[in-house]
Amino acid sequence: MSLLILGIESSCDETGVALVRSADTGVPVLLSHALHSQIEMHQAYGGVVPELASRDHIRRVLPLATQVLTDAGQTLADVDVVAYTQGPGLAGALLVGAGVACALGAALGKPVLGVHHLEGHLLSPFLSADPPEFPFVALLVSGGHTQLMRVDGVGRYEILGETIDDAAGEAFDKSAKLMGLGYPGGPALSRMAQQGDATAFKLPRPLLHSGDLDFSFAGLKTAVLTQAKKLGDELEARKADLAASTEAAIVEVLVKKTLAALKQTGLQRVVVAGGVGANRLLREQLNTACSKARVRVHYPELHLCTDNGAMIAMAAAMRLQAGQQQANTAYAFDVKPR
Ligand code: KG4
Ligand code: ZN
Repeated sequence: MSLLILGIESSCDETGVALVRSADTGVPVLLSHALHSQIEMHQAYGGVVPELASRDHIRRVLPLATQVLTDAGQTLADVDVVAYTQGPGLAGALLVGAGVACALGAALGKPVLGVHHLEGHLLSPFLSADPPEFPFVALLVSGGHTQLMRVDGVGRYEILGETIDDAAGEAFDKSAKLMGLGYPGGPALSRMAQQGDATAFKLPRPLLHSGDLDFSFAGLKTAVLTQAKKLGDELEARKADLAASTEAAIVEVLVKKTLAALKQTGLQRVVVAGGVGANRLLREQLNTACSKARVRVHYPELHLCTDNGAMIAMAAAMRLQAGQQQANTAYAFDVKPR
C-alpha cells in the first residue's frame, strides 16, 4: 500500500517539514522538504534559547507544511500518516511538533507516529541517491550523541560503543566557544581550521587506544582551554592553528574507532549520520581510510546531515514498511526530552 507521510522535526533549533511516499517495498521517496533554521535568532545569545526556539517553531511549522504540500502537488487530505520527533530534544520545542502533528492527525482522522530523533539521523542516508544496504556500521555524531552501532535492519540496532562524557559535536561547539568562534561552533571551527596548521598544537586523542569502541571528549575540551589560556594575547593570531589541531584530534579518534568497529564486526559498509557528518575533514579522512580497507561509506546529503523533517518522515516510512511500529489514533502525544 502506498502511504503519504508528513514528517515534522522540532527538537532543537531547526523547524523541518517533509513529505515522503512509501510503497510496500523499495526505499521510500522524498517528495519535498522545507526547513527554517533559527541559527540567526540564537546567534545573539551564543547558543540556543529554549523558550525562543519553541515560539519560533510555532510560527514556522504550519507555513512550512503548506509549502511542502504545494511543492509536491498534494493537499492535507492526501496525507496518510503524520510523523513527528518524539525526542530527545528540548521539551518545549518537541511539544510544538508533537502538538501540531496530533492536532492535524485528529482533524484529518489520520494516525500519527512519534519518531526517535536519532533514528531519523541514522536512516537519513536512505534519502540519498545511493542509499546503503543493511547490514552496516553506523557512526552517529551529533550535538548530543556519539555512538558506533551495528545496524542489521530497521529497528535492529546494537550499540557497539558511545561517548562516556561529551559528544563529538559538543567538543566542536565548546572548543569553538572558548576560541570566540560563535554558534554553531562545528561549522565555524571547521572553517577557521582550513587556514591553520593541524600539527601546531599537541592535543590528546582520548581513549584512542582503550581497546573498546567508547569515546571521551571532555578531556580534549579541557586541553583546548588550557592551551587557549596559555596563549593569552597570542590566541587571536593562533586561532586557526588551534582550531585545526582540535578538529584533527576529534576526527582522528572518530575515524580510528570507526575502523575498529568495522574490524570487530567484520562488516564492509559504514554509514555516517548526524550534524558532525557534514565535517569536511571527517569525510576526507574516512573516505581515504575506507577506500584503503575496501569499505563502502555512505553519508546523508550535506544539507540533510543536520536536523531536518525529511529524516523524520523517512524513519517513519521505513518503520511502517518494516512493520516495526504502527501509527496510532490515540493522539495522546508524549514527548521524551531525554
Ligand atoms: O545532528 P545535529 O544537527 O543536531 C543534534 O541532533 O544534535 O548536530 C548538530 C551538531 C552541532 O554540534 C554542530 O556544531 C555540529 O553538529 N556540526 C558540525 C558541522 N556541521 C554541524 N561539526 C563539525 N563540522 C561541521 N561542518
Ligand atoms: Zn539532530
